[in-house]
Amino acid sequence: MQINGQVALVTGASSGIGAAIARKLAAEGVIVGLAARREDKLRALMAEITAAGGQAIVLETDVTDRRSCQDAARKLIERFGRLDILVNNAGLMPLSDVESLKVDEWQRMVDVNVSGVLNATAAALPQMMAQKSGHIFNMSSIAGRKVFTGLSVYCATKAAVAAFSDGLRMEIAPKHNIRVTCVQPGAVKSELYDHITEEKYRQQMDELAGSMTFLEGEDIADTILFALKAPPRMDVAELFVLPTEQGW
Ligand SMILES: NC(=O)c1ccc[n+]([C@@H]2O[C@H](COP(=O)([O-])OP(=O)(O)OC[C@H]3O[C@@H](n4cnc5c(N)ncnc54)[C@H](OP(=O)(O)O)[C@@H]3O)[C@@H](O)[C@H]2O)c1
Repeated sequence: MQINGQVALVTGASSGIGAAIARKLAAEGVIVGLAARREDKLRALMAEITAAGGQAIVLETDVTDRRSCQDAARKLIERFGRLDILVNNAGLMPLSDVESLKVDEWQRMVDVNVSGVLNATAAALPQMMAQKSGHIFNMSSIAGRKVFTGLSVYCATKAAVAAFSDGLRMEIAPKHNIRVTCVQPGAVKSELYDHITEEKYRQQMDELAGSMTFLEGEDIADTILFALKAPPRMDVAELFVLPTEQGW
């Protein structure tokens, strides 16, 4: 399928996987709305995309705030007249043992990883339904398929994203011609591990990084392009992508 000229909203575009997806989409001629909280990072990415001949706009967004998501979608639609792709990528993973009772971190994960996906989906859906076309990518994880100790709450949020993706696809793909893809990466190089406050798990992630070659954000972006370019009759429901050395 031709994606040149389509319009995308990418949440969590200020770093890691989201920034890589935004770059790849822009290189394919997609107009990209860059959504995240760190405006300086988004501006730098927009400059990079523009210098490479692509088109992007900065949409300072907090996905935990429903109105902020609505504003981002509205600005993009007002400027470019449509919305074809939503990448629900924003997320965080501050690992800890449940017994440490880091309840603020739990809440943050629920707010960003789950409510953020719902908020941005609600903001994008009316336009996609009116167009009778669209493609929504929800960033789950290997941690949405399997539970690991120290990741209890994170796994719960990513399982929720996978469950929502299935229900969303069942409801809107046949009725509104909107494809839904749940993306489930294994370990990817990014800033994700920088937010871990429990020393034991920081060390564990460092050891994991030393034991194998992690995926790059570009690898995930390539799988998203594959799903996007698939013929309209085909919905890639899941993308489960692991480092070769990770197994599971
Ligand atoms: N790295 C991995 O191994 C891995 C594996 C499986 C799944 N994932 C998932 O992939 C996604 C991207 O993570 P990453 O690895 O690329 O980590 P990252 O580099 O830390 O990126 C996380 C992104 O989420 C954004 N974000 C956080 N809170 C936000 C909020 N309230 N509103 C808007 N944006 C927010 C951050 O931007 P701001 O701080 O600027 O807002 C940042 O752009 C996450 O959903 C993560 O769970 C990652």
